[in-house]
Amino acid sequence: MYTTLKKVLKEAEDLNMAIGAFNTHNLEMLPAIIKAAVNQRTPVIIQTSCGTANYVGHKNLVSICKSMAEEYGVDIVLHLDHAKDYDEIRKAIDAGYSSVMFDGSSLPLKDNILGTKRVVEYARKFDVSVEAELGTVGGTEDGIVVEQKDVQYTDPEDAVEFIRQTGIDALAVAIGTNHGQYKSKTKINFKRLEEIKKAVDIPLVIHGGTGVKEEDVKKVIRRGIRKFNVGTELLVGWNRKAKECYDSHKENVSNRDNVVPCLNVIEEIVEKKINLFKNIG
Ligand code: 13P
Repeated sequence: MYTTLKKVLKEAEDLNMAIGAFNTHNLEMLPAIIKAAVNQRTPVIIQTSCGTANYVGHKNLVSICKSMAEEYGVDIVLHLDHAKDYDEIRKAIDAGYSSVMFDGSSLPLKDNILGTKRVVEYARKFDVSVEAELGTVGGTEDGIVVEQKDVQYTDPEDAVEFIRQTGIDALAVAIGTNHGQYKSKTKINFKRLEEIKKAVDIPLVIHGGTGVKEEDVKKVIRRGIRKFNVGTELLVGWNRKAKECYDSHKENVSNRDNVVPCLNVIEEIVEKKINLFKNIG
């Protein structure tokens, strides 16, 4: 069914696993991600930036997620990723998104709390879940760059206060991962993750999942990560395959001859990730 982040992350907590949250950049990728989840028999979180949502159309995304959830009997959450603007969040909620992230991580703590609270108040009216971020994840996401010198790990005491004052459903933590890191591997601060997990009692989210080593994926899930975000790895997979196809095919072939091989790559990557997220040993 079409459902909320709160519900699937509660199940993930009970099963000691993480639910994969995959960024789509267009309409094409969506069914491939969902089919991978169907094959793996797990819920899936589809996430879009505000840019993707405006490009594809919020209602189109909602409709497809709803109809595929019904057709395939799979739990699907449609989540707005890294929204910094209240009006963008309202637009997504009004169109039927079941989950949103308010990203006030670049704001002073007080303003992050105020902005997040405002979003939670609106989202609650529609049973929409809210994720928020404390500390800063490095790297590039949707064109916004956070330099390494500006990266700040999440402070466990701030996290307790932040959750108490805002009432969010999930907390994105900064523990050393970077958005868009695919050429090298991330160095994770496991100790900080343990301290945060000990201090708070809501599901934790990891951003910048592409650069995380397989053994570290298992380690962070064992330490309480329940939503695992992957974006860049899908883009790189798609773009590499697309280059190969467009270079080798004639100009007048069906568009599907170029697009379907890319979708197969997406399905393969997502299946592999989900399999890892649910089998942590
Ligand atoms: P990557 O693109 O680094 O996998 O990160 C995805 C993400 O965290 C989206 O918010």
